[in-house]
Amino acid sequence: MAHKKVDKRILCIGAGYVGGPTMAAIALHCPEYEVTVVDINAARIAAWQSDELPIYEPGLLDVVKKVRDKNLFFSTEIENNIKNADIIFVSVNTPTKTFGEGAGKAADLQYWEKTAREILRASEHDKIVVEKSTLPVRTAKAMDRILNDNNKGIHFEVLSNPEFLAEGTAVADLEHPDRVLIGSHESETGLAARKKLVDIFAHWIPRERIVTSNVWSAELSKLVANAFLAQRISSINSISALCEKTEANISEVAHAIGMDGRIGSKFLNASVGFGGSCFKKDILNLVYIAENYGLHEVAQYWESVIKINEYQERRFVQQMIKVMFNTVAGKKIALFGFAFKKDTGDTRESPAIFVAKKLIEEKGMVIVSDPKAIPNAKNDLLEFGENIVYEPDPYKAAQGAHAIAILTEWDMYKTLDYKRIYDSMETPAFIFDGRNILDHDRLFEIGFSVFRIGRPSLTHF
Ligand code: NAD
Ligand code: UGA
Repeated sequence: MAHKKVDKRILCIGAGYVGGPTMAAIALHCPEYEVTVVDINAARIAAWQSDELPIYEPGLLDVVKKVRDKNLFFSTEIENNIKNADIIFVSVNTPTKTFGEGAGKAADLQYWEKTAREILRASEHDKIVVEKSTLPVRTAKAMDRILNDNNKGIHFEVLSNPEFLAEGTAVADLEHPDRVLIGSHESETGLAARKKLVDIFAHWIPRERIVTSNVWSAELSKLVANAFLAQRISSINSISALCEKTEANISEVAHAIGMDGRIGSKFLNASVGFGGSCFKKDILNLVYIAENYGLHEVAQYWESVIKINEYQERRFVQQMIKVMFNTVAGKKIALFGFAFKKDTGDTRESPAIFVAKKLIEEKGMVIVSDPKAIPNAKNDLLEFGENIVYEPDPYKAAQGAHAIAILTEWDMYKTLDYKRIYDSMETPAFIFDGRNILDHDRLFEIGFSVFRIGRPSLTHF
């Protein structure tokens, strides 16, 4: 395909949940730029070129269709695209390290470093390299070292532009972000590169929402933002356990405290626990960095956010087993929702994985239902093969079941005909609302024994 001749070439390395949507937004709002997204995963690139995008994200296909093959291109040709690019966003995965020094905590930077070396190898002129991936603070220094210790006479200016979009709302988050953060070195070349990036985002984002800082603050702010968000969930979830003991209602408590402008009302929904590819990984990364600097109390403080999350997941499934007369062996349990949140097919770190595995360990018969996440769920539960049934239709999933557990807050679960569902189930029928989204009084009236987060249970026995 012939690319337009333009002198403003943007490349993004990594066509995942971040690379694809962010570049689509830039292409849409900056028609004079040519934006190319490359990946080593050919199947992913092929999917971006089709109408079956590799990720489910509401509204994304419409945006992609407006710009694809106009000024947005997807390709597996990495070397030539690096050569041509003026600005390169690096948006590869940075998972938690599973081996060697720092295993289980530190970020695994192998994909990121490989990318940096590829950039160096293929480049023939100066470039701006933008860290889009979430990286440990001070990574830009290593990036600088790898890129600028070259004998090609090429200068690479490294910027940090962390991404704050959330899955399920990526399109809206990119269209109207609370802020865009751009960190640079405070040198002449650093400030000039920073300005170029500011100018790109200023095409559609009010200038006062484009925040600039030094490169270390930008890197660290990303980890801290995720840590604070996750901390709010662990805080409210820890209180949900107390509510269950005291007849306080977690929704009422969240509402009452959230009305204090200093606390704020968002992100106070108690749940079965937070999932997603980033909260746990980024907090572990923060913990590792703090430990490395000898800040053990700081490390322990943030680690407790993860511990409470694990406690919440554990306590949810333990309660299921306990109230079902201490055994789920041979009982059919329908899991409504497997994605880590609604409006995504992503299941990375989903609490549903933990719940499903625990129930199978107890010899329960698990039926997984989800409108978008079944392909990923099958992958997550591969080891259990035929022992798990996958059924997208919740009515069929619940047929003959002893219990339902709501694990994802999909809107469709709020409006199901629960009388019809109840009539098709074994009795006593249990419902465990891990997202507090259902009308519990109505379910109780129908005949269900209802267990929820942060409120006393409604039981018929
Ligand atoms: P992802 O796994 O969906 O995508 C990363 C892509 O990079 C993959 O398709 C992989 O094949 C590709 N890749 C890896 N090495 C490569 C190489 N050498 N050359 C070309 N392509 C390569 O990951 P993601 O969810 O998009 O996350 C990317 C980064 O953004 C992570 O650091 C993450 O922490 C951060 N982040 C993610 C989100 C989110 O909502 N998922 C939000 C904000 C920030
Ligand atoms: C999160 C952040 O919100 C984004 O700003 C960030 O860019 C992203 O991580 C990232 O770095 O990857 P995401 O994980 O996609 O986004 O989704 P969230 O909406 O933050 O939800 C995370 C988890 O917390 C979900 O499992 C969700 O169900 C749970 N959650 C959220 C609660 O249990 N209660 C709440 O009140 C809010």
